[in-house]
Amino acid sequence: MKPVRKAIFPVAGFGTRFLPATKAVPKEMLPVVDRPLIQYAVDEARAAGIEQMIFVTGRNKYAIEDYFDSAYEIESDLAAKNKTSVLDKLESTRLSPGKAAFVRQQQMLGLGHAVACARDLVGDEPFAVLLPDELLWNPAAPCLKQMADTYARKGGNVVAVLEVAEDQTHKYGIVDPGATEGAVTEVRKMVEKPAAGTAPSRLAIVGRYILQPEIFALLEKGERGAGGEIQLTDAMAKLVGTQPFHALTFDGERHDCGDNAGFIQANIALALERPEIADSVKAFIRTLV
Ligand code: UTP
Repeated sequence: MKPVRKAIFPVAGFGTRFLPATKAVPKEMLPVVDRPLIQYAVDEARAAGIEQMIFVTGRNKYAIEDYFDSAYEIESDLAAKNKTSVLDKLESTRLSPGKAAFVRQQQMLGLGHAVACARDLVGDEPFAVLLPDELLWNPAAPCLKQMADTYARKGGNVVAVLEVAEDQTHKYGIVDPGATEGAVTEVRKMVEKPAAGTAPSRLAIVGRYILQPEIFALLEKGERGAGGEIQLTDAMAKLVGTQPFHALTFDGERHDCGDNAGFIQANIALALERPEIADSVKAFIRTLV
């Protein structure tokens, strides 16, 4: 079984739910406490053993590329002032040359299309996809690491799922579950944004995927699905039955940071885990409720 060494981060979306902020700042650069969303996703990938990060970006997203570069002026100034603890914080933001690649999605044709833009950089090997606006939080066992462990046992394709409320299924790719073994469920079918009352289950795919390269040929057919977009879920649905396909119920907290309320909730939840600010944030929340 080939190891998963590469990860795709599709970050070309317009982030319209965060306008006007996203007019000039990519959604993925919005901070949860003090780290931008993209940093959480890259840290999660690293923890799962990913060696190469591939960012599918678009116009106005160059802040992401700058973020993962070294920042000579800041670093030399901090070094001169001996501010080593601040310098240490910058350590994980630098991706070595050759370990990060950037490709532009020139037309916003959907998540499936964004993933296909990285085809030549991935080549003929399994890869991960992480949507950075989904903050999947379990510092002890990050989501992609949980999935990599499942992949090591089952091979094939693995998606992360969580149970959502019945009236929310129309917002997600939903899995039709087969045999279940602990947190791992065989996938029989999947459907993108099923119409109300038609979802095969409440198991929603939440922005983490380990996929086999055969998906690229399916994506390149360019078939349009829900919303007129090239949907990753539709291409995955075609792989089901031809390759092992499993859903792993993620053990941890999920914050949908593509949504205004989810983003604020993520900030509160993670702030309460920071000893240096937890007490003051808690005291402030008490004054409100
Ligand atoms: P979303 O639709 O949730 O993100 O896509 P968005 O378009 O940035 O936000 P809104 O809905 O306008 O507020 C999920 C993920 O897929 C990427 C997005 O960047 C996001 O990470 N994506 C989506 C692409 O990279 N390209 C696309 O064509 C579509």
